[in-house]
Parts: sequence; C-alpha cells; structure tokens
Amino acid sequence: MAPAWLARLKLKAARPRLALTTQVFFEPRIIKQRHASVAVQCVMVPYQRGTMPRYEYRNLTPLPGAEASFLSWIDSLDEEFSDRDPEHRSTAVREALHQLYCGKPYAEPDSSASLARQALVYSLDPRNTTLEPEYYGDVDPARYAERKPLIWFWMMYDRSPVGLNHWLGYRVRAMLARHIFKFCGANVKIFHGVEVSFGYNLTVEDNCVIHKYVLLDDRGEIIVREGTSISDYANVYSHAHDLNDGMIVTGQTTELGPKARITYHATVLSGVRVGEQGMVGSMGVASKNVEPYHVVAGVPAKPVKVKPSAPQELRQAYEAREAGPR
Ligand SMILES: CC(C)(COP(=O)(O)OP(=O)(O)OC[C@H]1O[C@@H](n2cnc3c(N)ncnc32)[C@H](O)[C@@H]1OP(=O)(O)O)[C@@H](O)C(=O)NCCC(=O)NCCS
Repeated sequence: MAPAWLARLKLKAARPRLALTTQVFFEPRIIKQRHASVAVQCVMVPYQRGTMPRYEYRNLTPLPGAEASFLSWIDSLDEEFSDRDPEHRSTAVREALHQLYCGKPYAEPDSSASLARQALVYSLDPRNTTLEPEYYGDVDPARYAERKPLIWFWMMYDRSPVGLNHWLGYRVRAMLARHIFKFCGANVKIFHGVEVSFGYNLTVEDNCVIHKYVLLDDRGEIIVREGTSISDYANVYSHAHDLNDGMIVTGQTTELGPKARITYHATVLSGVRVGEQGMVGSMGVASKNVEPYHVVAGVPAKPVKVKPSAPQELRQAYEAREAGPR
C-alpha cells in the first residue's frame, strides 16, 4: 500500500472531476488518513475556474524602530502640508526632498558646485520645476498652485531611494492624496508611479487599489467608486479634443464602480461610466459605458460575458441579447 502522502500527491496531481452540469462537479477529496490508509469521498463542489485558491494579502511590518520613524516622518509631513499656502508647501517639499536625495538640510547651491549638482538642488524646489498640466489652458491656476508642490513631492518621492518601499509608500501616498485629491477615502492603497493631472478633480472612495504606473487624467473629472481596483499601466481619461481643432478641449466625468476592475494596460476613455462590478479586460479600450457586472474586452471594448455573480435579471438580459439576431 502506498503511503498516505504519496496517495495525496497523486490525487492532487490528477484531480479527476466529473461534470454534472456547467455549474457543479463531483470532486474526490481525502477525508480520512490513519497510518497508511486513505479514504476518498466524492464531494459536490460548485464550479470555479481551475478551482483557484483565494489569497488574502499578507500582513507585513518593518522592524519596530523603523516603523516608529516612518510614521513620525509621515505625521510631520502631514502637518507641514496642512498649510495650503503654495510658498509654505514648496519650502517644506524642498527641505524634505533635499534630505531624501542629499541626506542633509537644504542649502542654496554654491556657484562653485558642478552645474549638474546645481541643477539637481534647484530642481528639488517645486518653484523651479514645470509640470505638464501647468501648461494646459484649462487648468485652474490657483487650485493647481496649492497642489503642485505636493504632486512634485509625490513624483520625486517615488523616484527616490525609498520610493519602492511599499509599506512606507502606501502611507505616504495616502497622506498626500488627502491633500491633493478632491476626496480620498479610507483604506486606499496606491502603488508607485501613479500620475494624476490636476488632482483637484479626482475622487477616490474607500477601499480602492490603484496599481503601479496608472494614469488618472482628471482634467475633466474622475470618480473612482468604493472598492474599485485599477491595475498596472491602466489609463483613465476625462478630457477629449475636438477633431478639427485640438486646442478645443472638453472635460467630462468618467466614473468607475463601485467595485469595478480596470485590468492591466486597459484604457477608459473620457466620459465613460464603468458600472458596479464592471470589468475592462487587459489591453481593452472602453469607449462606451460598461454595464454593471459586464466584462468587456478588445479595442473598442465589447461585452464578452457577464460575471457569474451578477443578479439573475442581468444575466438573463445578456443571454437574451447574445441569443438574439446579430
Ligand atoms: C477580462 C478577463 C478577466 C476575461 O477572462 P475570462 O473570464 O477567462 O475570459 P475568457 O477566456 O472566457 O474569454 C471570453 C472571450 O473574451 C475574449 N477575451 C478575453 N479577454 C480578452 C482581452 N483581454 N482582450 C480581448 N479579448 C479577450 C476571449 O478571447 C474569448 O473570446 P471567444 O469567446 O471569442 O473565444 C481577462 O481576459 C483579463 O483581462 N484578465 C486580466 C487579468 C486580471 O484579472 N487583472 C486584474 C488584476 S488586479
């Protein structure tokens, strides 16, 4: 008789499954093992693609000394940035970036310093930098001026030696987002390399995740509803250009969710609404509204399915449309 562990291994590798319907399977499971004996019982399991396991995020923390230092730094920046005056914020950002990049307090560069060093030190001050959205004619200069030092800090923080430390980064960016966005809810997780346009036209509700290198172009308005996730390299737009005259710009509201998923490298065009639990497949371009629970894919994105968790009436309406004359 083969040892129990070998039987378990073989069973796991083979996992023969008998389909009853497309929704339910019989699956063999080991229910008892004592010494060398193995009992196998067939259990009825609902269909799950590839019986994929569900993984929760792991809870990680830095060492206590580092954690206390990180949190104190975020608190002190938060306090500095609570003063909305652009001059005050610029001076605070200049100091913080100088400490991050040069490891000491800010000092005006000496004229004998190399020109590259001068360029570095001067560029750490937001008053010496220009950002693309500043050039846009539709920017609100006063609202942008308040946020620009913090947007610059965000960009340079991400590119600094600590920018890929995620435990620290989520917290730094959540703090910044509360000062920059129109609204940023609780438990919002933002990875590195995310860019916004104006910031003041961006709402991100509770429990959203925005993955690395996402572009949130809030020139019009973007509302990311509760529990929505935007995957790596996705782009969300909220402005469009006139076909004849590119300088004629229309801002629109683009709304995602609640609980929508914009997957890797997908694009949502200006004014599109992705409904509750809607999903845009990877590389897809959503140029039209996405109905709740619908999965769209392709360029331009079209519905490819409705989520199995959708309310019955939505699934039936989709199936009726699919079955109807094309
Ligand atoms: C949208 C997505 C989830 C669909 O996956 P799925 O449910 O396994 O879909 P299927 O493989 O059953 O595909 C259904 C149809 O849509 C097409 N399709 C699926 N994804 C597509 C995509 N990204 N682009 C174009 N067509 C796509 C399939 O070719 C298939 O077409 P067919 O019926 O003509 O053969 C998946 O393609 C996707 O984009 N995943 C991204 C990864 C992800 O989940 N990211 C989130 C991380 S936070």
